[in-house]
Parts: sequence; structure tokens; C-alpha cells
Amino acid sequence: MSWLITGGAGFIGSHVVKAMTDAGERVVVLDDLSTGRPERLPDGVVLEVGTVLDGVVVERVLREHGVTGIVHIAGKKQVGESVDRPLYYYRENVEGMRVLLDAAVAAGVGRFLFSSSAAVYGMPDVDLVTEKTPCVPINPYGETKLAGEWLVGAVGARHGMATASLRYFNVAGAATPELGDDGVYNLVPMVFERLEAGEAPRIFGDDYPTPDGTCVRDYIHVEDIAAAHVAAARRLAADPEARLVLNIGRGEGVSVAEMIDVIQEVTGRAEIAPDVSGRRAGDPARVVASADLIHQELGWTARRGVREMVESAWAGWRLRHP
Ligand SMILES: NC(=O)c1ccc[n+]([C@@H]2O[C@H](COP(=O)([O-])OP(=O)(O)OC[C@H]3O[C@@H](n4cnc5c(N)ncnc54)[C@H](O)[C@@H]3O)[C@@H](O)[C@H]2O)c1
Repeated sequence: MSWLITGGAGFIGSHVVKAMTDAGERVVVLDDLSTGRPERLPDGVVLEVGTVLDGVVVERVLREHGVTGIVHIAGKKQVGESVDRPLYYYRENVEGMRVLLDAAVAAGVGRFLFSSSAAVYGMPDVDLVTEKTPCVPINPYGETKLAGEWLVGAVGARHGMATASLRYFNVAGAATPELGDDGVYNLVPMVFERLEAGEAPRIFGDDYPTPDGTCVRDYIHVEDIAAAHVAAARRLAADPEARLVLNIGRGEGVSVAEMIDVIQEVTGRAEIAPDVSGRRAGDPARVVASADLIHQELGWTARRGVREMVESAWAGWRLRHP
């Protein structure tokens, strides 16, 4: 098999590229470098600079590199920005998907793996979110991810493509400091930024119906996410009929207050007490994956814990903010 990885120069994409090449898979990357960095790619991996919105470029890359499977990770991922710029998000995430699938069908690509998100579930009112929990996204970002899944499913069924949509929960950590997340959109880097500035980490709401009153999430190490992609890619290669929709989480809830405690311990900045303010609109109390189906289907289980996520993310943060 020869895999095209879109968004391979990004945070998650570069971990998937590393895991797939380490596992002996042939890989080529298509990335427009809007948020990605070419230095993230290992030596020997070809980078084609271009957007998934350009069907001519995509089809050329697929044919030139004899691509037989696609891992589609490229996309825009900021919830707030998606509310401000819905047309941009629908173009990048949904139109980008349509163009990519169109080229994939034209070039006879038989395998397709898609980076989806727990954002498709919206505000699930359940203890553990299974793949059967209704998808009711509450922002344009989540809508575009769900529409992407629908496109993948419909095209896979009609054109005999093996498909998998992987719904990532809260991604953190890094395999090496160089591959760390550049953005400050998730809890871990947001707390690093506040602590480094000598400011109190912020907690939005401590009156949720959770054990300590703060929101509970399922944090997953990006290397575990990458390992799940290798397992899914192998499954698609072996099973042309595969039509998978799977959560990638640890199945374990960690509260915002607990996470901040670990971050303060790891960074050695425990003296600054968190600042508690009111709830933010659109924050569900608890979103924790059931990770049973992915274990059943792929034999995959997360191996890394919260401390490892925070320590590796902190090493990356220190590298970028010396
Ligand atoms: N980071 C998370 O917590 C998280 C959680 C759930 C799902 N996801 C999904 O995972 C994917 C990757 O997220 P990330 O955190 O690595 O983000 P990222 O911004 O680091 O990576 C995205 C990559 O895609 C590239 N890209 C963007 N638009 C492109 C286009 N039109 N054509 C080609 N390349 C393009 C960027 O340059 C970048 O390299 C996204 O699709 C996101 O929705 C991320």
C-alpha cells in the first residue's frame, strides 16, 4: 500500500506520518502549510505543497505516487473561529472533503481514513459516549466533521471504498518536543501560557454535576492516536468491505481541576491558585468516550496516561518558548 496523508505537516498529522513510516508503510504528504510546518516531517517523506481543494493537484499527486489509500487529516479545527467564519469552515472541511473524494474515486483509491472529532456529539448527556450516541453538533466545526463522515460513508458505499472515520476526543502530548502542538486552543497549552505569564489558570464553572464541579473530558495522547491510525490503516488494507466509525479515547474522565493540578505539578508552578469564573456557553459537563468498539474492531487500546501527556507537551512548550 502507498498512503497519502493530508495535513501530515500538522500536529496530529506529523505523528501519524511518523507512526506509519516507523511501521514500514509508504507515505506521501499533501499539506498547504496553512498551520503545518515542513520540519515536522521525517527525512525521506515527500511533501507535496498544495490544498485538498485543488482537485487537479490532488489527482496528480494520487496518480504520480501510485496512492492506494488516503488518511485525511487536513482541516480547520477551531470551534470559535468556525462560529465566526462558517463559510470558510464548510469550504475547507466539507468542500475539501468532496474534492478529495472526487479525485480519489477518479484515481481508483480503495481505502479512506478520516480524522473526525468528538465534536460531532455536541452536548451528549450520557456517562460514556458510544458510537451509537446521537450526533447533534452544536457549532459549525462539529457540523463540518459530521458532514465529512456522511460524505465518506456515502462515497465508500457507492464506490467500493473501505472507510474509517476516527472520532478523536481531547488530544494532548507529543512524541518528541519538536512535534508538539503549536496552537493555544486546548486546555493544556492554555494553562502553560497562563502559568508562564505568571497568571492564574482559568476554570470556567465549578458548579457542574461532576465530582469536583468542573468539566470532565477524555484526554488522549497523540502517540496513541497515531497508533490507532496504523491499526485502522492495516484493517482497511486487509478488509475492502470495512466501514468503520470509531471513538479514539481512553474511556476515562479527567476533570479540568485535576488536569490543572497535574500541569502545575509538572511545570513546578503550583503556587498560583486557579481563577474560577462562570460557565462558558456550549461546554458540556462531561464528555468521555466508550473505547470498547475500537478495541473490539482493531485490538487497539490507549497506553499513555495524563502525566505522560502533560510532561511531553511541556517539553515541546519549553522548546518553542525558551
Ligand atoms: N487537535 C485536536 O484536539 C483534534 C481533536 C479532534 C479532531 N481533530 C482533527 O484532526 C485534524 C488535525 O488537527 P491538528 O490538531 O493536527 O491541526 P493542525 O492545524 O496542526 O493540522 C492541520 C494540518 O492540515 C493542513 N491543512 C489545513 N487545511 C488544508 C488544506 N485545505 N489542504 C491541505 N492541507 C491543509 C495544515 O497546514 C496542517 O498541517 C483536523 O482535521 C481536526 O479537525 C483534532
